[in-house]
Amino acid sequence: MKLSLALASLISAALAVDTFQATPFLTSSNSQFGGGIEGAGVDRAGNIYAVNFNGQSASTGQVSPSQSLLYRDTGSALFNGIRFHIDSSGKEEAFVADATGHRVVRLTNRNASGVFQNSAVLCQDAGILQPNDIAIAHSTGRIFMSGMNYQATDVIGNGDLWTCDSSGKATKLGVFYRTNGIEVSPDEKTLYLSEAANKDWAVVSNIIYAFDLDAKAGTVTNKRVFADFGKLDNTASTDIDGMRTDTQGNLYVARNGIGKVAKLSPSGQLLAYITTPGHTSVTNLEFGGAAGTDLYIVGACADNTSKGCVSVYKGSAVGTAFSKLQGAGPITSSTSAAAVTTSTAATTALPATSTSPASSTRPANTSSPITSTTATGSGTTCDAAMQGKFQCTNAGSSPQYSVCNNGTWLQQSCAGGTVCKQSGSSIYCDWA
Ligand SMILES: *[C@@H]1O[C@H](CO)[C@@H](O)[C@H](O)[C@H]1NC(C)=O
Ligand SMILES: *[C@@H]1O[C@H](CO)[C@@H](O)[C@H](O)[C@H]1NC(C)=O
Ligand SMILES: *[C@@H]1O[C@H](CO)[C@@H](O)[C@H](O)[C@H]1NC(C)=O
Ligand SMILES: *[C@@H]1O[C@H](CO)[C@@H](O)[C@H](O)[C@H]1NC(C)=O
Repeated sequence: MKLSLALASLISAALAVDTFQATPFLTSSNSQFGGGIEGAGVDRAGNIYAVNFNGQSASTGQVSPSQSLLYRDTGSALFNGIRFHIDSSGKEEAFVADATGHRVVRLTNRNASGVFQNSAVLCQDAGILQPNDIAIAHSTGRIFMSGMNYQATDVIGNGDLWTCDSSGKATKLGVFYRTNGIEVSPDEKTLYLSEAANKDWAVVSNIIYAFDLDAKAGTVTNKRVFADFGKLDNTASTDIDGMRTDTQGNLYVARNGIGKVAKLSPSGQLLAYITTPGHTSVTNLEFGGAAGTDLYIVGACADNTSKGCVSVYKGSAVGTAFSKLQGAGPITSSTSAAAVTTSTAATTALPATSTSPASSTRPANTSSPITSTTATGSGTTCDAAMQGKFQCTNAGSSPQYSVCNNGTWLQQSCAGGTVCKQSGSSIYCDWA
């Protein structure tokens, strides 16, 4: 009796969560983005951008309204997050996270085709694990970075949190289990950071922390659990990926492996899901369009994981980034409200000054040897002798790998546009 009552209340709680369906925008048949599509960003006009343009890890492109190049690095960068910003003179700039260069690149001087002509390192530190995604406090131009070391072990320090001020000074703010989604609230008083923890190679926890944020000093205090997906909807084992807020303070959370977005209220209550038919993953999202109310959701396509799919959900909420770029946000200073200046004519543009190639540091290798190359799916059995052994599911082309844990192959995944590769008796995550 007690049990059925408990079940009934669980079911009614679950039913209270609305589900909306996003519409395919780019599919495997017309997308010019690769399966490592990530880091959705929006510019002042409401155009949406992402990384892995042309399937290239050092290339970023416009997603909507039409596909075109935004910026390509001449080095071996692995771009991940993108955020636009209006500088103190009213000009549009963009910041891009380079996960293998352990740096944030600042892009300036867009030409008439919208391509950034200049790039410089904003900040770089070999101690930064990636960065994975970046968030920005628009009022100060300060960047916040998440990151992980790709090792799915249960060690605090597999994830980190850094900040980088507008002068380029990088500061480590803390260590965590694997960190990924990162966002600043519309009033810039709260920083959200996702954390995924593993135990015995299985993902056991996915939570979002909230911190009190001082956007000027770049400090975070009063760390608390804002949302725990194990408790919200029993999806502790599904990684959280990119996160974005709307101007009402709702937080939209990409749930990578289950291909949907969860919408949380400013108090951490689960309000709705947005599903993405045609996606096998959801890596990131951003609001754009003329009014900043179209939520673009990016991730690998289900029918071809080498292609980047984009879905759009048209709602009424306005994205925080879009709003700040218009100068309409509550904190943005008056200089940011400058009239939209059209990009500089191509003839006056300086030649691209590309930054030095990214350091060739690879994601950390897994250390355990493998003794079999038989591909297996999640849940299939493995011998006791294989305990702790790894294998790529499809070496060189897919991020998936398995680890034998207590008689079962557990499916795991390399992150951020990398694939699983095999070398002798080791596997490692590397860019394709
Ligand atoms: C999947 O996409 C890749 C990259 O564009 C392409 O080379 C490949 O032919 C596609 N596979 C199928 C089955 O369409
Ligand atoms: C802008 O720059 C890109 C790459 O540098 C170039 O291909 C394009 O032609 C330029 N557009 C104009 C209008 O000059
Ligand atoms: C990982 O393994 C590959 C292949 O053995 C090697 O080339 C690479 O240097 C290793 N990376 C690290 C960080 O140890
Ligand atoms: C391993 O599996 C056995 C049988 O399913 C179970 O009893 C045991 O608790 C498991 N051990 C761990 C460490 O998960």
